[in-house]
Amino acid sequence: MKSILDYETVDYDRDLNIVKIIDQTKLPSDIQIEELTTSQQVWDAIYLLKVRGAPAIGVAAAFGLAMLACQIETTDLDEFERELISKKDFINSSRPTAVNLSWALGRIMDRYREVKNRLIKEENIDISIIKNTLLDEAYKIKEEDILVCRSIGEYGLSLLKPGDGILTHCNAGQLATCKYGTATAPIYLGHEKGYGFHVFADETRPLLQGARLTAFELSSAGVDVTLICDNMAASVMAKGKVNAVLVGCDRVAANGDTANKIGTLMTAVLAKHYNIPFYVCAPTSTIDMTAETGADIVIEQRDVKEVSHMWYKEPMTAENVKIYNPAFDVTDGSLITGFITEKGIFKSPKEM
Ligand code: MRU
Repeated sequence: MKSILDYETVDYDRDLNIVKIIDQTKLPSDIQIEELTTSQQVWDAIYLLKVRGAPAIGVAAAFGLAMLACQIETTDLDEFERELISKKDFINSSRPTAVNLSWALGRIMDRYREVKNRLIKEENIDISIIKNTLLDEAYKIKEEDILVCRSIGEYGLSLLKPGDGILTHCNAGQLATCKYGTATAPIYLGHEKGYGFHVFADETRPLLQGARLTAFELSSAGVDVTLICDNMAASVMAKGKVNAVLVGCDRVAANGDTANKIGTLMTAVLAKHYNIPFYVCAPTSTIDMTAETGADIVIEQRDVKEVSHMWYKEPMTAENVKIYNPAFDVTDGSLITGFITEKGIFKSPKEM
Protein backbone atom coordinates (compact mmCIF):
# COMPACT_ATOMS: atom_id res chain seq x y z
CA MET A 1 0.00 0.00 0.00
CA LYS A 2 1.15 3.54 -0.80
CA SER A 3 2.35 5.45 2.28
CA ILE A 4 2.53 9.23 2.78
CA LEU A 5 6.26 9.00 2.00
CA ASP A 6 5.46 7.79 -1.55
CA TYR A 7 3.79 11.11 -2.40
CA GLU A 8 5.60 14.21 -3.64
CA THR A 9 5.32 17.08 -1.15
CA VAL A 10 5.59 19.54 -4.07
CA ASP A 11 5.55 18.67 -7.75
CA TYR A 12 4.95 20.20 -11.15
CA ASP A 13 3.04 18.90 -14.15
CA ARG A 14 4.89 20.31 -17.15
CA ASP A 15 2.22 19.22 -19.66
CA LEU A 16 -0.60 20.97 -17.81
CA ASN A 17 1.53 23.74 -16.27
CA ILE A 18 0.24 23.25 -12.73
CA VAL A 19 1.85 23.06 -9.31
CA LYS A 20 0.80 20.04 -7.27
CA ILE A 21 1.07 19.82 -3.48
CA ILE A 22 -0.13 17.51 -0.73
CA ASP A 23 -2.71 19.54 1.20
CA GLN A 24 -1.09 19.18 4.62
CA THR A 25 -4.03 20.74 6.45
CA LYS A 26 -5.96 17.53 5.74
CA LEU A 27 -3.31 15.16 7.15
CA PRO A 28 -3.20 12.61 8.60
CA SER A 29 -6.78 11.53 7.93
CA ASP A 30 -6.93 12.39 4.26
CA ILE A 31 -4.16 12.46 1.62
CA GLN A 32 -5.34 14.97 -0.95
CA ILE A 33 -3.30 16.40 -3.81
CA GLU A 34 -4.16 20.02 -4.53
CA GLU A 35 -3.53 21.62 -7.91
CA LEU A 36 -2.49 25.28 -7.97
CA THR A 37 -2.93 27.34 -11.11
CA THR A 38 -3.26 30.98 -9.98
CA SER A 39 -1.13 33.37 -7.93
CA GLN A 40 -3.87 33.60 -5.30
CA GLN A 41 -3.93 29.80 -4.97
CA VAL A 42 -0.15 29.71 -4.52
CA TRP A 43 -0.33 32.50 -1.93
CA ASP A 44 -3.18 30.81 -0.03
CA ALA A 45 -1.48 27.40 -0.10
CA ILE A 46 1.58 28.90 1.59
CA TYR A 47 -0.30 31.18 4.01
CA LEU A 48 -2.78 28.49 5.05
CA LEU A 49 0.05 25.96 5.55
CA LYS A 50 -1.25 23.55 2.92
CA VAL A 51 2.39 23.51 1.94
CA ARG A 52 4.67 24.40 4.84
CA GLY A 53 8.16 23.89 6.22
CA ALA A 54 10.88 26.26 5.02
CA PRO A 55 12.39 24.17 2.17
CA ALA A 56 9.00 23.02 0.82
CA ILE A 57 7.72 26.61 0.87
CA GLY A 58 10.76 27.60 -1.21
CA VAL A 59 10.19 24.86 -3.79
CA ALA A 60 6.45 25.61 -4.03
CA ALA A 61 7.18 29.32 -4.49
CA ALA A 62 9.78 28.61 -7.20
CA PHE A 63 7.41 26.36 -9.16
CA GLY A 64 4.59 28.84 -8.51
CA LEU A 65 6.53 31.78 -9.95
CA ALA A 66 7.79 29.77 -12.93
CA MET A 67 4.22 28.62 -13.63
CA LEU A 68 2.89 32.19 -13.43
CA ALA A 69 5.69 33.32 -15.76
CA CYS A 70 4.51 30.72 -18.30
CA GLN A 71 1.02 32.24 -18.13
CA ILE A 72 2.18 35.76 -19.06
CA GLU A 73 0.96 36.44 -22.59
CA THR A 74 3.16 39.07 -24.12
CA THR A 75 6.06 39.29 -26.51
CA ASP A 76 7.22 42.56 -24.94
CA LEU A 77 10.13 41.93 -22.57
CA ASP A 78 9.54 45.01 -20.39
CA GLU A 79 5.93 44.07 -19.87
CA PHE A 80 6.95 40.47 -19.10
CA GLU A 81 9.46 41.68 -16.52
CA ARG A 82 6.96 44.03 -14.85
CA GLU A 83 4.43 41.21 -14.48
CA LEU A 84 7.04 38.75 -13.27
CA ILE A 85 8.23 41.14 -10.54
CA SER A 86 4.71 41.86 -9.38
CA LYS A 87 3.92 38.12 -9.12
CA LYS A 88 7.19 37.51 -7.27
CA ASP A 89 6.39 40.29 -4.77
CA PHE A 90 2.90 38.90 -4.22
CA ILE A 91 4.07 35.34 -3.48
CA ASN A 92 6.87 36.71 -1.30
CA SER A 93 4.27 38.40 0.92
CA SER A 94 2.61 35.11 1.92
CA ARG A 95 4.78 34.35 4.99
CA PRO A 96 7.60 36.45 6.47
CA THR A 97 9.83 34.20 8.60
CA ALA A 98 11.17 31.33 6.45
CA VAL A 99 13.98 32.84 4.38
CA ASN A 100 13.72 29.99 1.86
CA LEU A 101 10.69 31.77 0.37
CA SER A 102 12.58 34.90 -0.70
CA TRP A 103 15.73 32.84 -1.37
CA ALA A 104 13.95 30.57 -3.90
CA LEU A 105 12.12 33.47 -5.54
CA GLY A 106 15.46 35.31 -5.71
CA ARG A 107 17.01 32.34 -7.51
CA ILE A 108 14.26 32.39 -10.13
CA MET A 109 14.73 36.15 -10.59
CA ASP A 110 18.53 35.80 -10.84
CA ARG A 111 18.05 33.14 -13.51
CA TYR A 112 15.63 35.45 -15.30
CA ARG A 113 18.16 38.31 -15.42
CA GLU A 114 20.89 35.95 -16.61
CA VAL A 115 18.88 34.51 -19.50
CA LYS A 116 17.46 37.94 -20.41
CA ASN A 117 20.95 39.43 -20.70
CA ARG A 118 22.13 36.49 -22.81
CA LEU A 119 19.15 36.76 -25.19
CA ILE A 120 19.62 40.54 -25.52
CA LYS A 121 23.27 39.97 -26.40
CA GLU A 122 22.30 37.35 -28.98
CA GLU A 123 19.52 39.66 -30.30
CA ASN A 124 17.03 36.83 -29.87
CA ILE A 125 14.27 37.89 -27.47
CA ASP A 126 12.27 34.69 -27.36
CA ILE A 127 10.09 34.70 -24.22
CA SER A 128 9.40 30.97 -24.49
CA ILE A 129 13.13 30.37 -23.86
CA ILE A 130 12.88 32.49 -20.71
CA LYS A 131 9.80 30.60 -19.52
CA ASN A 132 11.46 27.21 -19.99
CA THR A 133 14.63 28.37 -18.25
CA LEU A 134 12.65 29.51 -15.19
CA LEU A 135 10.86 26.18 -14.99
CA ASP A 136 14.18 24.33 -15.28
CA GLU A 137 15.52 26.42 -12.40
CA ALA A 138 12.53 25.48 -10.23
CA TYR A 139 13.17 21.78 -10.93
CA LYS A 140 16.82 22.33 -10.03
CA ILE A 141 15.84 23.87 -6.67
CA LYS A 142 13.72 20.79 -5.96
CA GLU A 143 16.47 18.33 -6.95
CA GLU A 144 19.02 20.21 -4.85
CA ASP A 145 16.70 20.11 -1.85
CA ILE A 146 16.69 16.30 -1.99
CA LEU A 147 20.51 16.15 -2.17
CA VAL A 148 20.89 18.71 0.62
CA CYS A 149 18.56 16.77 2.93
CA ARG A 150 20.35 13.49 2.18
CA SER A 151 23.67 15.10 3.04
CA ILE A 152 22.28 16.60 6.29
CA GLY A 153 21.10 13.06 7.08
CA GLU A 154 24.59 11.62 6.62
CA TYR A 155 26.32 14.28 8.72
CA GLY A 156 23.59 14.08 11.36
CA LEU A 157 23.83 10.32 11.60
CA SER A 158 27.54 10.59 12.42
CA LEU A 159 26.50 12.29 15.70
CA LEU A 160 24.09 9.56 16.78
CA LYS A 161 24.43 5.99 17.98
CA PRO A 162 22.17 2.96 17.74
CA GLY A 163 19.35 2.94 20.26
CA ASP A 164 19.45 6.73 20.86
CA GLY A 165 16.39 8.60 22.03
CA ILE A 166 15.80 11.65 19.83
CA LEU A 167 13.38 14.47 20.48
CA THR A 168 12.12 16.65 17.65
CA HIS A 169 9.78 19.63 17.52
CA CYS A 170 7.28 20.62 14.81
CA ASN A 171 7.73 18.90 11.44
CA ALA A 172 11.10 19.20 9.78
CA GLY A 173 10.34 15.97 7.99
CA GLN A 174 9.84 14.84 4.43
CA LEU A 175 6.58 16.80 4.40
CA ALA A 176 8.57 20.00 5.01
CA THR A 177 10.98 19.23 2.17
CA CYS A 178 11.03 17.14 -1.02
CA LYS A 179 12.54 14.02 0.56
CA TYR A 180 14.08 12.86 3.88
CA GLY A 181 13.35 16.12 5.72
CA THR A 182 16.11 17.92 7.60
CA ALA A 183 15.73 16.94 11.28
CA THR A 184 14.28 13.58 10.24
CA ALA A 185 16.95 12.81 7.62
CA PRO A 186 19.43 11.28 10.14
CA ILE A 187 16.50 9.34 11.61
CA TYR A 188 15.43 7.90 8.24
CA LEU A 189 19.01 7.04 7.24
CA GLY A 190 19.66 5.45 10.64
CA HIS A 191 16.40 3.54 10.43
CA GLU A 192 17.47 2.04 7.08
CA LYS A 193 20.67 0.86 8.81
CA GLY A 194 18.78 -0.67 11.74
CA TYR A 195 19.83 1.91 14.37
CA GLY A 196 16.60 1.39 16.36
CA PHE A 197 16.10 5.02 17.39
CA HIS A 198 13.31 5.98 19.80
CA VAL A 199 11.85 9.28 18.63
CA PHE A 200 9.75 11.65 20.72
CA ALA A 201 7.66 14.02 18.61
CA ASP A 202 6.38 17.14 20.36
CA GLU A 203 2.77 17.67 19.28
CA THR A 204 3.58 21.38 18.60
CA ARG A 205 0.65 23.53 19.62
CA PRO A 206 -1.26 25.28 18.18
CA LEU A 207 -1.14 23.80 14.67
CA LEU A 208 -0.04 20.29 15.70
CA GLN A 209 2.58 19.73 13.00
CA GLY A 210 4.27 17.21 15.32
CA ALA A 211 1.10 15.22 15.98
CA ARG A 212 -0.43 15.42 12.53
CA LEU A 213 2.71 15.26 10.37
CA THR A 214 5.90 14.10 12.15
CA ALA A 215 4.30 11.23 14.07
CA PHE A 216 2.41 10.27 10.90
CA GLU A 217 5.36 10.20 8.53
CA LEU A 218 7.79 8.53 10.96
CA SER A 219 5.30 5.84 11.95
CA SER A 220 4.50 5.26 8.24
CA ALA A 221 8.21 4.53 7.75
CA GLY A 222 8.18 2.08 10.66
CA VAL A 223 10.26 4.33 12.96
CA ASP A 224 9.56 3.90 16.71
CA VAL A 225 7.92 7.26 17.43
CA THR A 226 6.07 8.40 20.55
CA LEU A 227 3.91 11.50 20.48
CA ILE A 228 4.12 13.78 23.51
CA CYS A 229 2.39 17.05 24.35
CA ASP A 230 4.83 19.97 24.32
CA ASN A 231 4.69 20.23 28.10
CA MET A 232 5.93 16.63 28.49
CA ALA A 233 9.37 17.26 26.94
CA ALA A 234 10.96 18.10 30.31
CA SER A 235 9.58 14.93 31.80
CA VAL A 236 11.05 12.59 29.12
CA MET A 237 14.38 14.44 29.29
CA ALA A 238 14.46 14.21 33.09
CA LYS A 239 13.94 10.46 32.81
CA GLY A 240 17.05 10.18 30.61
CA LYS A 241 15.13 9.09 27.53
CA VAL A 242 16.57 11.75 25.20
CA ASN A 243 20.16 11.62 23.90
CA ALA A 244 19.84 14.39 21.32
CA VAL A 245 17.38 17.02 20.15
CA LEU A 246 17.13 17.56 16.37
CA VAL A 247 15.09 20.46 15.00
CA GLY A 248 14.77 22.35 11.73
CA CYS A 249 14.91 26.10 11.20
CA ASP A 250 13.22 28.87 9.25
CA ARG A 251 15.94 31.51 9.35
CA VAL A 252 19.36 31.48 10.97
CA ALA A 253 21.00 34.84 11.69
CA ALA A 254 24.74 35.43 11.19
CA ASN A 255 25.42 35.04 14.94
CA GLY A 256 23.61 31.68 15.09
CA ASP A 257 20.32 32.86 16.60
CA THR A 258 17.72 30.62 14.99
CA ALA A 259 14.03 31.15 14.24
CA ASN A 260 12.02 27.95 14.22
CA LYS A 261 8.54 26.82 15.20
CA ILE A 262 7.18 28.30 18.41
CA GLY A 263 8.30 26.12 21.30
CA THR A 264 11.77 25.42 19.92
CA LEU A 265 13.30 27.90 22.37
CA MET A 266 11.65 26.13 25.28
CA THR A 267 13.06 22.79 24.05
CA ALA A 268 16.56 24.27 23.72
CA VAL A 269 16.45 25.70 27.26
CA LEU A 270 15.38 22.29 28.59
CA ALA A 271 18.11 20.51 26.61
CA LYS A 272 20.70 22.87 28.13
CA HIS A 273 19.38 22.13 31.63
CA TYR A 274 19.59 18.37 31.11
CA ASN A 275 22.92 18.56 29.24
CA ILE A 276 21.47 17.09 26.04
CA PRO A 277 23.01 18.16 22.70
CA PHE A 278 20.67 20.42 20.75
CA TYR A 279 21.26 20.36 16.97
CA VAL A 280 19.70 22.58 14.32
CA CYS A 281 19.47 20.85 10.94
CA ALA A 282 20.00 23.71 8.53
CA PRO A 283 20.23 23.72 4.74
CA THR A 284 22.60 26.61 3.98
CA SER A 285 19.69 28.21 2.05
CA THR A 286 18.10 28.88 5.48
CA ILE A 287 21.04 30.96 6.68
CA ASP A 288 20.49 34.68 6.32
CA MET A 289 23.77 36.53 6.74
CA THR A 290 21.91 39.84 6.29
CA ALA A 291 20.23 39.26 9.66
CA GLU A 292 22.95 39.97 12.20
CA THR A 293 21.06 38.56 15.18
CA GLY A 294 17.68 37.05 15.96
CA ALA A 295 16.37 40.56 16.64
CA ASP A 296 16.51 41.17 12.86
CA ILE A 297 14.16 38.25 12.11
CA VAL A 298 10.50 39.09 11.50
CA ILE A 299 8.28 36.70 13.45
CA GLU A 300 4.96 35.85 11.85
CA GLN A 301 1.90 36.49 14.02
CA ARG A 302 -1.08 34.32 13.13
CA ASP A 303 -4.82 34.30 13.64
CA VAL A 304 -5.61 33.85 17.34
CA LYS A 305 -8.43 31.45 16.43
CA GLU A 306 -5.70 28.86 15.76
CA VAL A 307 -5.30 28.81 19.55
CA SER A 308 -8.89 29.20 20.68
CA HIS A 309 -11.04 27.52 18.01
CA MET A 310 -9.10 25.21 15.74
CA TRP A 311 -9.46 21.50 16.60
CA TYR A 312 -12.22 22.21 19.15
CA LYS A 313 -15.95 21.65 18.70
CA GLU A 314 -16.61 24.72 20.84
CA PRO A 315 -14.16 27.59 21.46
CA MET A 316 -11.92 26.55 24.36
CA THR A 317 -11.48 30.05 25.77
CA ALA A 318 -14.00 32.50 27.12
CA GLU A 319 -14.84 35.33 24.74
CA ASN A 320 -12.56 38.39 25.00
CA VAL A 321 -9.62 36.45 26.43
CA LYS A 322 -6.45 37.99 25.02
CA ILE A 323 -4.42 35.52 22.96
CA TYR A 324 -0.87 35.71 21.66
CA ASN A 325 -0.02 33.53 18.64
CA PRO A 326 3.51 33.95 17.26
CA ALA A 327 4.29 31.17 14.78
CA PHE A 328 8.01 31.08 15.59
CA ASP A 329 10.48 31.89 18.33
CA VAL A 330 14.18 32.62 18.25
CA THR A 331 16.61 30.29 20.00
CA ASP A 332 19.74 32.03 21.16
CA GLY A 333 22.80 30.76 19.29
CA SER A 334 24.50 29.98 22.64
CA LEU A 335 21.93 27.22 23.28
CA ILE A 336 22.73 25.45 20.00
CA THR A 337 25.33 22.66 20.10
CA GLY A 338 25.81 22.68 16.34
CA PHE A 339 24.30 23.32 12.92
CA ILE A 340 24.07 20.23 10.74
CA THR A 341 24.24 21.48 7.15
CA GLU A 342 24.77 19.81 3.77
CA LYS A 343 28.38 21.03 3.96
CA GLY A 344 29.20 19.65 7.40
CA ILE A 345 28.61 20.40 11.07
CA PHE A 346 29.40 23.89 12.31
CA LYS A 347 29.26 25.71 15.62
CA SER A 348 28.11 28.95 13.99
CA PRO A 349 27.19 30.29 10.53
CA LYS A 350 30.35 32.43 10.57
CA GLU A 351 32.43 29.20 10.44
CA MET A 352 30.68 27.86 7.33
O1 MRU B 1 4.74 26.94 10.30
P1 MRU B 1 5.49 25.82 9.65
O2 MRU B 1 4.80 24.49 9.78
O3 MRU B 1 5.88 26.13 8.22
O4 MRU B 1 6.85 25.74 10.49
C1 MRU B 1 7.80 24.80 10.12
C2 MRU B 1 9.01 24.78 10.98
O5 MRU B 1 9.14 25.55 11.90
C3 MRU B 1 10.10 23.84 10.57
O6 MRU B 1 10.80 23.37 11.69
C4 MRU B 1 11.08 24.58 9.64
O7 MRU B 1 10.41 25.21 8.60
C5 MRU B 1 12.10 23.65 9.07
S1 MRU B 1 11.42 22.47 7.95
C6 MRU B 1 12.71 21.52 7.35
